[in-house]
Amino acid sequence: MGNYSLFMSLPSFSSDISTLGIAGSGIMAAGIAEVALLAGFDVMVRSRSERGATELVAQVSKSLGRRVERGKLEIQVRDEAARRLTTTTNLGDLARCSIVIESVVEDKEQKTSLLRELDSVVPTGSIIATNTSTLSVSELALATMQPDRVCGIHFFNPATTMPLVEVIRPLTASQSTIDVAIAFVAMCGKEAVLVRDDPGFIVNALLFPYLNDAIKMMERGTASMDDIDAAMKGGCNFPMGPFALLDLVGLDTSLSIIETLYAASGNTADCPAESLVRLVADGHLGRKTGRGFRTY
Ligand code: CAA
Repeated sequence: MGNYSLFMSLPSFSSDISTLGIAGSGIMAAGIAEVALLAGFDVMVRSRSERGATELVAQVSKSLGRRVERGKLEIQVRDEAARRLTTTTNLGDLARCSIVIESVVEDKEQKTSLLRELDSVVPTGSIIATNTSTLSVSELALATMQPDRVCGIHFFNPATTMPLVEVIRPLTASQSTIDVAIAFVAMCGKEAVLVRDDPGFIVNALLFPYLNDAIKMMERGTASMDDIDAAMKGGCNFPMGPFALLDLVGLDTSLSIIETLYAASGNTADCPAESLVRLVADGHLGRKTGRGFRTY
């Protein structure tokens, strides 16, 4: 297992050194699970429902299957990786994990109570990370009894493809927690950047004001959605335009990030665009629901 040496240098860490725990079963949880499986980790995913667990396994095996079809993965490697994925509905089963990443809905109450529960089941010596996009990692950490072992490990969507992971250092985290998080990211084949626990960290603090402004530009009638997307692709060489990206990320997640940034700045110019709020209220959350700014 490639992750052995990481924990060898940190004797206080759990003796089971091969298993990543993930709490959650959405797009990000599935992407992180696939990344870790391909990096050689055993992965245990905890979903609250059997259905969520089944859907996550289906999503991961579909994505691994696409890699095989494209000639990027050997069938045997896929089968071996798939065998290392297990699911549970019992949070207590994450007790044997050296690192647990929570990747549930971007809701402060839910993340806080999940981190508290994780803190009581995950043994001392294991680290607990949140994949939050914008919530304060320090506040989440302080909800636990051992805030020194809590940090942010923030993957980007699609996690299988995006090379960057932000490691967020709350004031409370120990240096060894941060060292393990950075080493874990490297073992996943990703590039880690270390960020202070400021709203939006690096990427979302810069990206979401732009996405929000693109919607407001469309609402003002400056240009159509298609032309704004085309302009940012052709004029800036961005891989996709703002509306395509909003639909990919998910409009609920996007709204939550924009609201957090707005609350932090207090500047009315940062308030969420009206059509974003309306689409979310109507349940049109982007690709994952088949409709967002566009229909899929
Ligand atoms: N889900 C999973 N994987 C996907 C995907 C999706 N929706 N779309 C494409 N991919 C994968 C493909 O499988 C392919 O993987 P391999 O290289 O392993 O074969 C790879 O991405 C490239 O795909 P394509 O060649 O088909 O498509 P593309 O060249 O148009 O790239 C893209 C697609 C990677 C999504 C690209 O358009 C891109 O990079 N877009 C920007 C994405 C971005 O900015 N993400 C950050 C969002 S912010 C965020 O995530 C933070 C947060 O907290 C919300």
